[in-house]
Amino acid sequence: MEILGVDIGGSGIKGAPVDVDKGEFTRDRLRLPTPDGAPPQEVARTVAEIVAHFGWTGPVGVTFPGVVTDGVVRTAANLGDAWIDLAARDLFAEASGAPVTLLNDADAAGVAEMTFGVGRGRPGTVLMLTLGTGVGSALFLDGRLVPNTELGHIEIRGKDAERRASAHAREVHDWGWHDWAKRLGEYLRRVEDLLYPSLIILGGGVSRKADRFVPLLEGVRTPVIPAELHNDAGIIGAAMAAVPAAGRT
Ligand code: BGC
Repeated sequence: MEILGVDIGGSGIKGAPVDVDKGEFTRDRLRLPTPDGAPPQEVARTVAEIVAHFGWTGPVGVTFPGVVTDGVVRTAANLGDAWIDLAARDLFAEASGAPVTLLNDADAAGVAEMTFGVGRGRPGTVLMLTLGTGVGSALFLDGRLVPNTELGHIEIRGKDAERRASAHAREVHDWGWHDWAKRLGEYLRRVEDLLYPSLIILGGGVSRKADRFVPLLEGVRTPVIPAELHNDAGIIGAAMAAVPAAGRT
C-alpha cells in the first residue's frame, strides 16, 4: 500500500509517497523550505503544495515537531505559540483536500526505525532520540510506542536539554564533536538513569555522522546505536500512521 508521508521540520517540509509494506519511497521526495516564522496558514499551504505535487488524493500522514493529541497540537517548542491548541489535522486536511493523520515527528521516526531500521525486532524498553532542531523522543516497550514523550525538555544545568544536546545547538554554538559529545553524553546518562532502557537509538540527520561522536560519549552504560533511516524516518513513519484501519496488518 502507498501512502503520502509529510514531515514538518523547523527548516524544511518534506514529503514522499511511501510503500508502507517495504518502508521505501516510491518517488523522489520533495523538500520545500518551512515558511519564515512557520505561521500555521502558510505551513498548511506548503503541506498542500506537497500533496498537489504528487497529485495525491488518498490518506496523508503528517508529522509535527510538538505534542499532538487527537489531531490538536499541544506544544510547539520550535515553531511558535500560534500552534498551541490548534486543530492542525483539520487545518491540513482542509488546505490539501486529503484525509490527514497527524502525529509527533519523533514518534513517527521511531515507529519507522522500529519497523524497518535498526530497532526491528528489538524487545524491551527502547528509546529513540532524534537530534535535529530540537531533541525528540520515542519510547517503545516490546515494539509498542508510548506516544508523546518529551524527553528533549528535561532540565540539565538549568537549561532545556535540547539546547545542549540537539544538532542545532552544536551548529549555533560552533561546538566541535568533542564538546558536543560531552553535553550529549551528560544528557544520555540522565535519561538512562530515569528509564533504564535496553537500547538507545540516535536519529536525525546527524546520525549519518555517528562515527564522529558516538565513540566520544563517556559513561553511558546503555548500548547507543545510530538510526538507519536518517532523515527519511519521519516521512516513512508519517505514512505508516495514516494507513487506514482496515488496511493495517
Ligand atoms: C519537541 C518535540 C519534537 C522535537 C523534535 C522538541 O522541541 O518538543 O515534540 O519531537 O523537538 O522535533
